[in-house]
Amino acid sequence: MYVCICNAVTDKDILNAADAGATTLKHLRDELNVATCCGRCATCAKRLLKEACSLSCSIEQNDVLLANAVA
Ligand code: FES
Repeated sequence: MYVCICNAVTDKDILNAADAGATTLKHLRDELNVATCCGRCATCAKRLLKEACSLSCSIEQNDVLLANAVA
């Protein structure tokens, strides 16, 4: 689905950017030009990024817990 119509940025583009280390809207602006035109996509882009970061953090925490449990 398109998140930023002005710059043809999809939800997958944002999730891929999060996987590559993007953690802020500024990162998305720099990498994908999200919210650099009309700005209507900013809230949705931030929400997607937050969800992606939360998922990534919970996976990393589970990996640490698992590693500690095995050690
Ligand atoms: S929809 Fe993203 S800048 Fe317009």
